Amino acid sequence: MVMTQETRKYQAFYTRSIPIVDYMIEKLSLKREDRIFEPCGGDGVFAEAILNWNKNANIDICELNDNAFNILQNKFYNYTTANIRQCDTLLDKDLIFYSNFGGIYDKIIANPPYGAWQDYDKRNKLKKLFPNIYTKETYTLFLYRCIDVLKVGGILSFIIPDTFLNLHMHKAIRKHILTRTKILELTLFPSSFFPGVNFGYANLSIITLQKCNNKKECLENSFKVINGFTHVEQLANVADNKLNVLTFMQNEILKNPDCAFFVTDNSEITEAINNTRLQIGDIARCVTGFYSGDDKKFMQVISSGLKNGKNYNLVDVKTINREYKDYSGILEGFKGDKCFLPVIKGGNTKYLKPESWFMNWSKEAVKHYKTDKKARFQNSQFYFKFGIGVPMISSSSITASLIDNKLFDQSIVGIFPKDETLTYYLLAFFNSPTCNQLIRTINPSANNSANYIKKIPFIMPDKTKLEHITSNVAKIIALINENGSFDENIEVQVNNMIKSLYGF
Ligand SMILES: C[S@@+](CC[C@H](N)C(=O)[O-])C[C@H]1O[C@@H](n2cnc3c(N)ncnc32)[C@H](O)[C@@H]1O
Repeated sequence: MVMTQETRKYQAFYTRSIPIVDYMIEKLSLKREDRIFEPCGGDGVFAEAILNWNKNANIDICELNDNAFNILQNKFYNYTTANIRQCDTLLDKDLIFYSNFGGIYDKIIANPPYGAWQDYDKRNKLKKLFPNIYTKETYTLFLYRCIDVLKVGGILSFIIPDTFLNLHMHKAIRKHILTRTKILELTLFPSSFFPGVNFGYANLSIITLQKCNNKKECLENSFKVINGFTHVEQLANVADNKLNVLTFMQNEILKNPDCAFFVTDNSEITEAINNTRLQIGDIARCVTGFYSGDDKKFMQVISSGLKNGKNYNLVDVKTINREYKDYSGILEGFKGDKCFLPVIKGGNTKYLKPESWFMNWSKEAVKHYKTDKKARFQNSQFYFKFGIGVPMISSSSITASLIDNKLFDQSIVGIFPKDETLTYYLLAFFNSPTCNQLIRTINPSANNSANYIKKIPFIMPDKTKLEHITSNVAKIIALINENGSFDENIEVQVNNMIKSLYGF
């Protein structure tokens, strides 16, 4: 799809996928007498499919954008039961009125805008109208409003990013869904199934739910989560035995930390998350690192061939300061030319990163970092300390490398165990498949921000295991220091020990 300004403003990504449209319509179990709502019409794909099925279907369509509204009017000119209104679904007075009545629609279908831009005035209005919901993300507001305007017993099907299932900011909408509706089915699939869209940060989901005003019934409801899709046509037959089908009860999800949906068929993982005595946040400080405000100006690279390093100046090795570790005034910066210090950045290197990036740490530069609006001199008590760095974004598995008394930037979450003797054990843990399964269950997106890392269950190994793992990690680090690589058999042994501790 060509991304015009208008597409971006209204997030007008239309559902040009027959399998997606057919699946969602099928989920509504439409009846001829249903009163139907399409809260963000676009060019009318859903309405068209419904009117093809029943040309007298009673359908209300809202659309904000002039062009799309005109298209809808022309397209459905001859359909007297299709009522098209140009309005803002989130602020519209009629819809607020219907909500106050407990809802009027039997069926609702939507592909709402995701993260559409709202000006500040509108954001303030939205905050008043939806006090508990995160207002910077539009799709959850559409979902909330549509649950409101649905009749008790009415069914809604929405195609939306899967971020509402786990992200902290969406806790309130999860609670609302779990206690005010019965989820009928949830399908999860790659965003690339949606023509023209492929956002790296999340997958897509289709949630179908039924409004219910009995909380007990909602919580006793069990529903299927279907994932493992390899192609979009599989939506036509979700009973296909190649798909992965999991069943959950709503009261189980409500009990999870932050009411997050942990979509895994391994109950040991969910149990570990729910029943742990200690979490990483209890035994270590997890903090985001430093930002200069202008890295192109303040950061330099060791070689011009370094990945992502081509727009940075080469560091003059004579300006690298190697004696900085014992300098007590380090948070004030250095006088003189020897003022470049190594900094750990993102990138998925395990155990130990080569020294490739250097930050200007002169007195003047540090003064700038402390006063510049864009710079982030945050969590400075952890700069140049001994800990572990986990990249904020990891495309494949989570990785961790040592922060051996270096600076770490904001693409890294620094993990500093309260008991320093646990550092190598934690380094092994954060590189293990066990930890990867835990973090991907807590948050399936590629994002490992400090808040999710803090929630990972921590199991203290006994003294023998701790020593064994620690000495093996020391060997790995020594090998990397000597040859730039390590013996993978040692890693396998360490991973197996961690697996035996957690059970997976
Ligand atoms: C993601 S598109 C989907 C359109 C259509 N339902 C489909 O699936 O092809 C979202 C549509 O919502 C419209 N829209 C954006 N914000 C809106 C709002 N606040 N109220 C009503 N419509 C809105 C956009 O103009 C766009 O046409």
